[in-house]
Amino acid sequence: MKDLKLDISKAFGFVSENDYKSLQATALEKNAALYDKTLPGNDFLGWADVKNIISAQELSEIEQKAAELRQKIEILVVIGIGGSYLGAKAVIDALSNSFAQMNIQKGKPLVIFAGQNIGEDYIYELMAAIENREYALCVISKSGTTTEPAIAFRLLKAQIEKKYGKAEAANRIVAITDKSRGALRKLADSEGYKTFVIGDSVGGRFSVLTPVGLFPIAVAGFDIKQLLAGATKVEEMSAKGKSFEENVPAHYAVVRNLLYRKNFGTEILVNFHPKLHYFSEWWKQLYGESEGKEGKGIFPASVDFTSDLHSMGQFIQEGTRGLYETVISIAQPDNKVEIPSDAQNLDQLNYLAGKRVDEVNKQAELGTKLAHLDGGVPQIRIEIPQLNEYYLGQLIYFFEKACGISGYILGVNPFNQPGVEAYKKNMFALLNKPGFEEESKKIQERLK
Ligand code: PA5
Repeated sequence: MKDLKLDISKAFGFVSENDYKSLQATALEKNAALYDKTLPGNDFLGWADVKNIISAQELSEIEQKAAELRQKIEILVVIGIGGSYLGAKAVIDALSNSFAQMNIQKGKPLVIFAGQNIGEDYIYELMAAIENREYALCVISKSGTTTEPAIAFRLLKAQIEKKYGKAEAANRIVAITDKSRGALRKLADSEGYKTFVIGDSVGGRFSVLTPVGLFPIAVAGFDIKQLLAGATKVEEMSAKGKSFEENVPAHYAVVRNLLYRKNFGTEILVNFHPKLHYFSEWWKQLYGESEGKEGKGIFPASVDFTSDLHSMGQFIQEGTRGLYETVISIAQPDNKVEIPSDAQNLDQLNYLAGKRVDEVNKQAELGTKLAHLDGGVPQIRIEIPQLNEYYLGQLIYFFEKACGISGYILGVNPFNQPGVEAYKKNMFALLNKPGFEEESKKIQERLK
């Protein structure tokens, strides 16, 4: 089987090959630290060892519960935010038919998401949309106390209990949370929900290959073992003791740090396939939360090409410099569509007749790469042979491993997120949450 390919040749010229060579030993040291647990954040490295990330027993329970629900539901509502939603959303969108929502049926449930925002219209419209459908809920929160999913779950729990009665509702609710701590654990135990555990050693944004991602992905009908097999392959390439040459995630970690040192402070993840939109959202959280701290970090942005060539393309070509692109390319699409010939040729497209749509897409990709290089935008390219579970598993682990190495090269703890608390403190103070009385007083003074 082929593997993911990384091409960093178009970053050279912007960074030197000597600098690249001189950072290789450091990258291997940082990679070893992910196994030896010698650097900050060492309590959160459970994701690195894919083979032990989940037991065979737990995997089979996930598949069993997913199969049971698939038989009886048309919709699964996954309730979670940040790392408790983006991984599942990324994989499910990447693997699903783009128009799956037009063909909702039992046996092939549509997975939708709640609790990833506090939009009143969003939750109202979601509740109205599922009211007359067969559905189930999967509530995911590692801490068990996050406000956004807690509000959504309170609303959806009341709705599902009203529709099916408490006992059947409990059969249709799965909770994924800490093994013993947090409000969600308490609630799930007291209501008798089926639960899966998020281990202490895996942070939210690194949790897609745990029950957090695997359960919703299995309900959507995808092969979670293949996802893990793909991840395992990249772990093997980048295991402790592997040479720098073999360790492909380390190449990416090194080159992006060198670009950063040359004032390329924004990385744009580019795709030419709309199904990867949420993969980029997952990637942005992974890198944004892991590296953006202590006044440091590359700002992770994303675009969907060619759509965004008609919006952001101008800026990338000619706007403020300091951007580089990492392009995810898929060698083979799943389907074949040829552009037909037209006798009248009024649209003047006959020069494309007989070509596959993907051939045009690939030339758009190449043309964009050359244009952006000319505009001073370094290029990194990652190619996967096909968009399937195995190669998505490779991509996921590739980015996770590179993120750990890259964050350590940058000199930050890639596994904490202290900055996320600031807005929460203010929100709780503004909402008069018990325990925030002092903060409430202070914030009201500040607003006078
Ligand atoms: O990566 C992270 O740790 C965060 O994005 C969390 O996943 C997010 O804040 C949700 O947290 P929880 O799962 O505790 O509800």
